[in-house]
Amino acid sequence: MSEYIIKGGKKISGEICISGSKNAALPIIAASILNSGKTTLYNVPDIHDTQMMYEILKRLGASVTKKKNKVIIDSSRINCYEIPEDLMRQMRSSVIFVGSLLGKYKKATFSYPGGCDIGTRPIDLHLKVFEKLGINIGKNYGNISCSCDKIIGEKIDLDFPSVGATENAILASCLAEGTTIITNAAREPEIIDLQNFLNKMGAKIKGAGSNQIEIKGVKTLKDVGYNVMPDRIETGTFLCLAAMTNGKITLKNANSNHITPVIDKLEEAGCKIIIQKNEIEIDAPKKLKAVNIKTMPYPGFPTDMQSIVATAMTIAKGTSIIVENIFENRYKYTQELIRMGAKINVEGKTAVIKGVRKLYGANVKATDLRGGASLVLAAACAKGTTKIENIEYILRGYEKFDYKLQQLGVNIIVK
Ligand code: UD1
Repeated sequence: MSEYIIKGGKKISGEICISGSKNAALPIIAASILNSGKTTLYNVPDIHDTQMMYEILKRLGASVTKKKNKVIIDSSRINCYEIPEDLMRQMRSSVIFVGSLLGKYKKATFSYPGGCDIGTRPIDLHLKVFEKLGINIGKNYGNISCSCDKIIGEKIDLDFPSVGATENAILASCLAEGTTIITNAAREPEIIDLQNFLNKMGAKIKGAGSNQIEIKGVKTLKDVGYNVMPDRIETGTFLCLAAMTNGKITLKNANSNHITPVIDKLEEAGCKIIIQKNEIEIDAPKKLKAVNIKTMPYPGFPTDMQSIVATAMTIAKGTSIIVENIFENRYKYTQELIRMGAKINVEGKTAVIKGVRKLYGANVKATDLRGGASLVLAAACAKGTTKIENIEYILRGYEKFDYKLQQLGVNIIVK
């Protein structure tokens, strides 16, 4: 396990380029199975999670060629329909392959992804989607086998607007007979990106971004080239870095429309934010003001930004109340922040944060991807040196994180 050593208190300024979106890239990589041909993707983040997706594709029989952020996937030789258990356990999002395998080959075998660092994260909604599409589901000692002769379009009403279940419903229905209509669909921008990618491949999907998505099944899909959208959570993370360090930075290749609730909260906290085409500039005040947040499905405040904005609130003037409504166990990082001098009380889904004057360097451990990134931000503004262990969590989702932080003036080394 590697670690970051961060000497806090350096001035933060300059500009960096935001990478392609992890959460858009993962389902798009899985969707490359559907055309049984060649898919060229641009702006794909080179992170642990995308590498895991390539590993799964290779084990299924596809070939993957990667040059920096360009990836060419050839899925014409897929000959295995089982998602390897070891990889399924390592990355829950690998469940997104199931929709593609079913859509193309009408069969898929996989194991339960198991528990996770931020909550139990069941897959019941995904299985309900497959059942609704007429797919037989057999369960045997933790293994799940799905199969059917053909998929016929159906009406699917999701109990909750789950991002993954919405994506799996789209992937399984693209090549179906007839039309599938998903209601109470998740509305995240990454789902629009998946729709745009699939439509470029020749699919007939409309409505992504709203709570009703219509997928007219087509017979075949063609080879395609596609540019993945920018990462809105990486964008929010760097905005909060500047917010916590009295910094002034510019983020290029960013889409501010995707993180409106985060920008609103940072402005409420006293930051000046200037938005230009594909560019966001932030100028942070000496002292932030406390703000309250409640996480909600998109377009509400994103759960993936909860730990990051909450961390900024540890040094704000006043008391902030944070309510986490999406995942039940997303406050583990607060214990680590308390080691650095933060005053946080967690009860159930609520965290009450009393702003302190300063955080102090300490030895801490990343507990999950976004919680880990939050500790990096805390370390950058803390007095003294912080050692962050278990940074593998952070590397799952942030491309060249230490390099970008250094570009902005953070004193960080990897050991
Ligand atoms: C996606 C994102 C993740 C983000 C989350 C919520 C990817 C790769 N990951 O995860 O970064 O935090 O959306 O915005 O895009 N649930 C069930 N049963 C299911 C599925 C989900 O109960 O079958 C619950 C989950 O436990 C959670 C909630 O629904 O409480 C939201 O999960 P979901 O929207 O499915 O998140 P993911 O797609 O896993």
